[in-house]
Parts: sequence; C-alpha cells; structure tokens
Amino acid sequence: MGRLDGRVALISGGARGQGEAEARLFVAEGASVVIGDVLDEEGRKVAESLGAAARYVHLDVTQPEHWSAAVGVAVKEFGKLDALVNNAGIARYGALRDFPLADYLKVVQVNQVGVFLGMKAVVEAMSAAGGGTIVNISSAGGLAGVTGTTAYCATKFAVRGMTKVAAIELGPLGIRVNSVHPGGVDTPMNDQAADIDLDFSEDPNKKLPLGRIGRPEEVADMVLFLTSGESSYSTGSEFVLDGGMLAGPLF
Ligand SMILES: NC(=O)c1ccc[n+]([C@@H]2O[C@H](COP(=O)([O-])OP(=O)(O)OC[C@H]3O[C@@H](n4cnc5c(N)ncnc54)[C@H](O)[C@@H]3O)[C@@H](O)[C@H]2O)c1
Repeated sequence: MGRLDGRVALISGGARGQGEAEARLFVAEGASVVIGDVLDEEGRKVAESLGAAARYVHLDVTQPEHWSAAVGVAVKEFGKLDALVNNAGIARYGALRDFPLADYLKVVQVNQVGVFLGMKAVVEAMSAAGGGTIVNISSAGGLAGVTGTTAYCATKFAVRGMTKVAAIELGPLGIRVNSVHPGGVDTPMNDQAADIDLDFSEDPNKKLPLGRIGRPEEVADMVLFLTSGESSYSTGSEFVLDGGMLAGPLF
C-alpha cells in the first residue's frame, strides 16, 4: 500500500530538481500527478517516464489562466485534485545596493505571486474533493537572511506568511497548508549561486553541522510526509531541512 494511494497532486516546477523528485516519489507512493512547468520538453519527458499516473501541462505560475487550466487537467484526467505542491521558483543573486528593480519584481512574480495564485486556484477543487493538502516550498531564506538574496528572501518570507493565513482560512474546509524550508539543495538552481560575485570560493555547505548540501529526494520525503495522512494534525507550520544551518552561528 502506498502512502498516497488514491490522491491526485499538482506539482508546479516539476520538470526538474525538487519538483521532479516529488513527482517521482508521489507516483511511487500511489498518487496521480499533474506536472506543471515552463520547461515543456523536460516536463513532458518526466511525465512520460512516469506512465499513466502522470500528465504534463504548460504552467507559468504567474498566469492565473494557466493555473485554472492545470486544475482542469487534474479533474478531467484523474477525477479530482486534493494535493498541491507550490514548488516552482527562481533565484536571482546579487548585493542589495546593485540589485536591479526588474530582477526584484521578476522574483516576486514567480516566487510570491505564483504561490498566491496556486493556492487560490485549487481551493474550489479541493473543497469539492472533501479537503486536501497544500505544501508551499519556502526556504531557509524564509526564516533568516542570506547574503546576496534580497529578493529571494523577501519572497520566501512572504510564502511563509501567506501559508499561515491560508491555513487559518482553509482549515475549516479540510485543507491543510504548510511551508517547507530547505537549506541548500543540489539542483540546477543551486548551480547558479556559484556564478555570482560573492565569495563562494569555499563550499559553504562544508561548514554546516551535517557538512554537505541537501538532496532533492530529501526534500521530497518531507513534502510526502506533509501531503500524506501522517501529518494530519499539522497545518500553518514550518518544516525545516537544512543540515543544521539555522541551529546557531556557524563560526
Ligand atoms: N536549490 C536550493 O538550494 C533551494 C533551497 C531552498 C529552497 N528552494 C526552492 O525549492 C523550489 C524548487 O527549486 P529547485 O531547487 O528544484 O530548482 P530548479 O531550478 O531545479 O527547479 C525549479 C523549477 O521551477 C520551474 N519554474 C521557474 N519559473 C517558473 C514559472 N514561472 N512557472 C512554472 N515553473 C517555473 C523551473 O523551470 C524548474 O523546473 C523553489 O521554490 C526554490 O526556491 C531551493
């Protein structure tokens, strides 16, 4: 028996990285998944490799009509929607004093507005299904400041806040909403951090209590827990997996 038998999930940003790991784990645990992304070729390949339990849909999380269409695909193809993972995100790195406004607004559109639109879009379908779960992917940068990430941290703090409001408003509908706060995770997003003009000459993950970067599959395990009935009394809460980054000063 799978931990998500009979569940139907929509995962934004599921074409690669953590979203892909979540899609693969969810299907392995008995769920049907709709993968939404702007990387159509990669997303389609992931869905095809998962067989009849998966569909791909083009979803730009900044576009409300894309969200409506994605929810429609879940209901049409799998009969309902009762899980959302708001995973899509982007990062733009740079010092505050030089950070371009256009980049700031772009990060807000995807990471913050995208999560807001995703939650709004699924409420009706989840109520019709008798309840559900929403997992919003924030970051350790949604709990503490990280140098060179003004826009990113601002949006991840926002995700943490809107998770709590949604949990309060949607709890009576049987919808649980939680946020996940990974530290560094080994995905294409993390590779970009190495390209910027901040001192990452030494691998900062070596300084962590656990001494290494996180793996996408480790985040997927946390998201699975929060989507499954095993977390049935948790809502509006923050779930951290960061190798000990936030345990205390690392020097
Ligand atoms: N990698 C890390 O170190 C790290 C740490 C903490 C939190 N996160 C968060 O985890 C989530 C997943 O990131 P990842 O590490 O897998 O990175 P990733 O770059 O590998 O994957 C992000 C996915 O989101 C998609 N995406 C980007 N813009 C989109 C849009 N407008 N609409 C739909 N999809 C879009 C991308 O195409 C990609 O498939 C993000 O929210 C990220 O902020 C990442």
